[in-house]
Amino acid sequence: MSESEAASIYERIGGAEAIDRVVESFYRQMSLLPQAQTIRAMHGDGLIGMKSVLKKFLSEQTGGPVLYSSEKGHPPMRQRHMAFPIDNYAADVWMECMDLALAEHVADAETRVQLHDKVQKLADMMRNTG
Ligand code: HEM
Repeated sequence: MSESEAASIYERIGGAEAIDRVVESFYRQMSLLPQAQTIRAMHGDGLIGMKSVLKKFLSEQTGGPVLYSSEKGHPPMRQRHMAFPIDNYAADVWMECMDLALAEHVADAETRVQLHDKVQKLADMMRNTG
């Protein structure tokens, strides 16, 4: 199989249903982990809207249907996060929640690492304060 024909991360993890499970687990971790309470509080009470947006975003980031930028392409993600103080600790805890969700729902280790690396790059980009 050539590079261009290789299955996307989206396909390899199990498509929309897998993205759903990862995002649900991610916010569950964020609500449960004591060290995540600062970033959990940034998100306000209701997470339903947020879950839906993150699912759309991750769908297209993993090579699935382009659901996010078709709806809200601008401003870019980093700019959308500027209203929130995201220091190294906040970004690390965000990734800790994501890694727990990936460990639960992405069985294939190679795919899990690829997805982790992709999301880690995004999390690094969101850091906006020391
Ligand atoms: C690094 C630590 C991060 C923190 C503390 C953080 C926090 C936040 C907060 C507080 C919001 C606004 C929630 C609201 O309006 O109720 C938000 C929005 C969002 N975040 Fe993050 N975020 C982080 C990283 C990321 C990463 C790595 C991604 C993608 C993989 C991401 C994807 C999103 C999306 C899709 C939205 C919704 C933007 C929109 O309204 O279109 N965030 N984030």
